Amino acid sequence: MDLNNVKMREFIYSLIDVKPAMSVLDLGCGTGYDLGRIAQIVDEDSLLYGIDSMENSILRAKSQYHSDPRMKFTHDNIEGKLGFAGNSFDVVLSNNVLECITDKQSLIAEVHRVLKPNGQAIFAHFDWDSQLIDGEDKELVRRIVHTFSDWKQEWMSDIDAWMGRRLWRTFQQSGLFRNGRIETYVLTNTEYSEPFYGYQRIQDFGSLVKRNMISEDDYTRFLADIQQLASGDGYFYSINMYVYVGLK
Ligand SMILES: C[S@@+](CC[C@H](N)C(=O)[O-])C[C@H]1O[C@@H](n2cnc3c(N)ncnc32)[C@H](O)[C@@H]1O
Repeated sequence: MDLNNVKMREFIYSLIDVKPAMSVLDLGCGTGYDLGRIAQIVDEDSLLYGIDSMENSILRAKSQYHSDPRMKFTHDNIEGKLGFAGNSFDVVLSNNVLECITDKQSLIAEVHRVLKPNGQAIFAHFDWDSQLIDGEDKELVRRIVHTFSDWKQEWMSDIDAWMGRRLWRTFQQSGLFRNGRIETYVLTNTEYSEPFYGYQRIQDFGSLVKRNMISEDDYTRFLADIQQLASGDGYFYSINMYVYVGLK
């Protein structure tokens, strides 16, 4: 993971109101990276739960963090009722997951239910359509970015490339949280190589060719455009991260 991505995630953790013996739930935790970092800032009496619907991710999380008894990972779907009693968590966190959820209001109501009074909902989301990539061919860059942003992958029940900008109204519509606010972080990369976030996304765009969503010729021209800028040290990528923070 590149330093910009690490800093962006650290920014999210900085929004957590850290307290003794706290309980944190990460919805759509992936391989547990965020909980692994949060484990370093909470005390030894804290409990950290992660849920994800991808079995492989949960197996990796379990194997990586098995030596930390505070961390528990469950393979499950977060759509529907969450398997926890009400008033269980100090923080419910979720990073880049909400766009995939069909009934967002039901999930938000569940988040509210499982939070303790004064507990924090911290929902981070990229606004995929605000991915910026510099290039000479604006039409081509825009088309490829938007095609990627709107691509509903097999593991997603829903998709919304505007989830970042819609976080605020989605939580406001629930009417459940108080002191809500939106925090922002702009991730920028000027290096076109591994392990930089933008470089990885641009390689992902190749999947669109395999699915006939863009032509091989378009993708080749797009890569050449970027490569040309990168060779003159002019490559630039950025994406906006929005974070909703509200209290029960
Ligand atoms: C973009 S990844 C983000 C992973 C992690 N939060 C992170 O920031 O690295 C989205 C994650 O949400 C999970 N996910 C999507 N829909 C889900 C659902 N209905 N229930 C549980 N997990 C889900 C996916 O399996 C995937 O791991």
